Amino acid sequence: MSHSSPARPLPKAELHLHIEGTLEPALAFALAERNGITLPYADEDALRRAYDFEDLQSFLDLYYALMAVLRTEDDFAELADAYLARAAAQGVRHAEIFFDPQAHTARGVPVGTVIEGLARALDEAEERHGISTRLILCFLRDESAESALATLEAARPYLHRVTAVGLDSAEVGHPPSKFREVYEKAHELGLRKVAHAGEEGPPSYVWEALDVLGVERVDHGLRCVEDPELVDRLVRDRMPLTLCPLSNVRLRAVDTLEKHPLPDMLRRGLMATVNSDDPAYFGGYADDNFTAVRDALRLGEEELRTLARNSFLAAFLDDEEERRAR
Ligand code: ADE
Ligand code: ZN
Repeated sequence: MSHSSPARPLPKAELHLHIEGTLEPALAFALAERNGITLPYADEDALRRAYDFEDLQSFLDLYYALMAVLRTEDDFAELADAYLARAAAQGVRHAEIFFDPQAHTARGVPVGTVIEGLARALDEAEERHGISTRLILCFLRDESAESALATLEAARPYLHRVTAVGLDSAEVGHPPSKFREVYEKAHELGLRKVAHAGEEGPPSYVWEALDVLGVERVDHGLRCVEDPELVDRLVRDRMPLTLCPLSNVRLRAVDTLEKHPLPDMLRRGLMATVNSDDPAYFGGYADDNFTAVRDALRLGEEELRTLARNSFLAAFLDDEEERRAR
């Protein structure tokens, strides 16, 4: 049985969202025109037809290519404001937003342009959209450890705008331990720590994220279910997992949404949250993910409320901020 969406979506925090993954085709073409860039697609529909991914890498190839349209502070501010407007309509009250500085600095866009542009939209987010925000600077794990260290160094003048560091991009072959040093440095600088692990990579990458990097949340963590000892550890630590169900289907980490392990994960006591990852590419924003798992996995009201509550508990908010956001 399929339910209709409630009139008012459940208030929630979004903890796994790549701002570059919110670049909708219409904005991509508008920015391309503004910046004098020709995209290799005739129109928005042709671009959308390319969103047929086989795995994480096939998505990343398009994700990085389309970022060519993001060049100025205004572009980043517009991108973030567009996301925040959509998120607000989906019940998001707090958003912790990933960005990929190396994907921009490699194209000659300074890290300051990226952070100042995003921060401009985030500064207005409470007033315009009723959303509190945090920024999470991600290192690309398929780049070198030295490049990650240089990126953290280049971002030093802007770190007052950044709450945490993260680790993303092509996972297999790039274990978390490769980034031990930059995570230590980030910790010394007072930054919180998260990392993608166990999306396509094995459970051992989740262990490394915990024990080598000392993360406070695991992004995805989907493959932890293959390792009962790891599940026990995650349950014992009440370690939040930022799951992204529609992403998992589109990138073929699961065969179908009906086979997603989320209900089993909740039953086993894991602190699961539901998020949108790269919503412009994967067919849904935060509440679209909630609605999709509710329908495909027959989650009840209680489970949906647990997911929403977990999202606030797992956020980098103090108690008073958390109370206000809910
Ligand atoms: N960058 C953007 N989306 C990602 C994902 N789902 N996994 C790893 N890196 C990403
Ligand atoms: Zn992600």
